[in-house]
Amino acid sequence: MQIVILKNSAEVAEYGANIFIKQLQNRADSVLGLATGSTPLALYQGLIEASKANKISFKDVTTFNLDEYLGLEGTHPQSYRYFMNEQLFDHIDIDKANTFVPPGDAENPIQACDGYEAKIEAAGGIDIQLLGIGRNGHIGFNEPSSGLMSRTRVKTLTKATIEDNARFFGTDEYQPHLSITMGIGTILDARKVVLLATGENKADAILATVEGALTASCPASALQLHKNAVLVIDEAAASKL
Ligand code: GLP
Repeated sequence: MQIVILKNSAEVAEYGANIFIKQLQNRADSVLGLATGSTPLALYQGLIEASKANKISFKDVTTFNLDEYLGLEGTHPQSYRYFMNEQLFDHIDIDKANTFVPPGDAENPIQACDGYEAKIEAAGGIDIQLLGIGRNGHIGFNEPSSGLMSRTRVKTLTKATIEDNARFFGTDEYQPHLSITMGIGTILDARKVVLLATGENKADAILATVEGALTASCPASALQLHKNAVLVIDEAAASKL
């Protein structure tokens, strides 16, 4: 696991964006694994700017998102499909038919999980997977206790994650307690993994990921098994290392 410690969140975003920019400049038809949450927002802004400056194109790119709330349609403002359209896809030259997010409105979610895995495989696997991290060490929606070899499946969210993400929902708004998420095994299959973390509230999770035991109690610790994983973190997130 490579660890890059930078001064602040702006530097983390720039460093992370450059990894993706280089990837696209080397291989225009890359398969990217994308993430939601607030951490990757500035990185996406960097990709949009690079695309507007014609440094990169997404014309031949395929994307797979990590996760989605189960029970929300892609048109729901809190869905991760909506988030991705708003924060990235609507601002770049990507063909939306090549952007995949687990279907939160699937009639048969279990079948949909297998279908999602099959699509990743048919695309040739993921070249770079972007990750954020939850305060409890979750990646995607792989909450603590997730199997380290798990595949895309339905997961119940923990109370901590529901509380952390409540800030995105209105007080009277329905907040799902279930998700569809790529598994830890799915994430580990990506040829490269880039995890971003900023802020002091991620310091415990980063400590457990880097210096803790390999354990399902901290799903991100599974990255210790990956041959090409890089953690790009700011000084605050690195403060307990
Ligand atoms: C959600 C997402 C994760 C993300 C996490 C942290 O739970 N499913 O993929 O890493 O939030 O979000 P933030 O970056 O806002 O701290």
